[in-house]
Amino acid sequence: MSLIEVKNVTKIYKQGKVETYALRGATTNINEGDFVVLSGPSGSGKSTLLNIIGTLDTASSGEVIIDGNNVSKMSKSALADFRLNNMGFIFQSYNLFPVLTALENVGLALELKGLPKKEIIERSQLALEDVGLKDFGKRKPSELSGGQQQRVAVARALVSKPRLILGDEPTANLDSKNSESLIDLMTSMQAKYNATVVLSTHDSMVLSKAKRVITLIDGVVVSD
Ligand SMILES: Nc1ncnc2c1ncn2[C@@H]1O[C@H](COP(=O)(O)OP(=O)(O)O)[C@@H](O)[C@H]1O
Ligand SMILES: [Mg+2]
Repeated sequence: MSLIEVKNVTKIYKQGKVETYALRGATTNINEGDFVVLSGPSGSGKSTLLNIIGTLDTASSGEVIIDGNNVSKMSKSALADFRLNNMGFIFQSYNLFPVLTALENVGLALELKGLPKKEIIERSQLALEDVGLKDFGKRKPSELSGGQQQRVAVARALVSKPRLILGDEPTANLDSKNSESLIDLMTSMQAKYNATVVLSTHDSMVLSKAKRVITLIDGVVVSD
């Protein structure tokens, strides 16, 4: 069954009188449990499509249906809840809070959900163990390598057991060894948690490990 249906989505960014067409009728379906990679040259619309799937941005026209919900018809507060309960995000630049420890960064989504402190700490610690950072919970991001910071971000994305994990060029700031181990980690976490993963990348190593590649050119899906 399709977890995500993208139907004829366009996105036009308007800056004053200048209009940029980032997506021009993109259509695709992503099934539950897929590990999908969005590829395509810089400017082809990968980040825009991921942001729209992640409900961080809205389409100018077309529809996005996630788990049967037409997300363009949901209110902002309903979308915030929907994201909190269904999605985990991983970014190119890790986006950890520098003043928080690794453990605190991982626990943020659980705090937003209002879970008891003890449960937040236990689950965050288990998530750090999952990504191979059992003894690193007390460190601040500045005390971790790039590869370790991105693993913290993976733990943060996983801790609330989301159905969907979205990553925009998650290996772009990592060397090839850390990139490969990040993708291997995400593949094993996807199997363990039966999540659906959608990543964008330019990286040929990431492409070579993908079960499915969706290629965008000029805002259109050209191959799948
Ligand atoms: N916030 C924005 N405002 C205006 N144009 C944008 C914005 N974000 C992206 N674009 C433009 O939309 C197109 C697609 O961008 P993007 O989705 O970032 O592509 P990719 O991630 O594949 O590099 C590009 O032409 C880009 O310059
Ligand atoms: Mg991008």
